[in-house]
Amino acid sequence: MEYNQSSFLCETIVPKNELIVSRTDLKGTITYANETFASISGYEVDELIGKTHNCVRHPDMPKAVFKELWSSLETKGRWSGFVKNIRKDFGFYWVYAEVSGVYKDDQLVEYKSIRTPISFNDKMYYQEKYDEMKNKEGELVRKISYEPYTS
Ligand SMILES: Cc1cc2nc3c(=O)[nH]c(=O)nc-3n(C[C@H](O)[C@H](O)[C@H](O)COP(=O)(O)O)c2cc1C
Repeated sequence: MEYNQSSFLCETIVPKNELIVSRTDLKGTITYANETFASISGYEVDELIGKTHNCVRHPDMPKAVFKELWSSLETKGRWSGFVKNIRKDFGFYWVYAEVSGVYKDDQLVEYKSIRTPISFNDKMYYQEKYDEMKNKEGELVRKISYEPYTS
């Protein structure tokens, strides 16, 4: 299946039968991305390695979600939640993400995330919930401009 077609402002549907995997160092810099994660995000694998993971952060995502992700990783060693990610071409996709530690000799060395598709109803629910969260916090909602793509 081909996911890397230009999908400016369009949703890319996450495949059901493939794992979407990335790993980061302890500060959130990508150390590994599988082919599915790269192509669904509109990148080549090599382009992603060394980038900070917020390269796929969608402006619709409230700050509080990632604040909770990092504090939950610190206190419980894991986090899971619903995430809308942005593609390199400004398209987007929704996932349910599970983030947890990677241990070597009992030492936390990296974090990994495995993502799966979510239902249409969940997308609608979380879009509204995240819009409300952003509104409450005075964060801008819909930062992406809907002007025609010119380059
Ligand atoms: C293993 C791992 C995977 C992550 N996956 C994503 C992701 O898919 N999308 C995302 O926006 N942030 C993800 N993050 C969180 C980012 O590191 C970052 O905190 C977030 O994008 C918010 O950006 P900011 O911290 O610059 O505000 C992940 C973090 C870790 C540790």
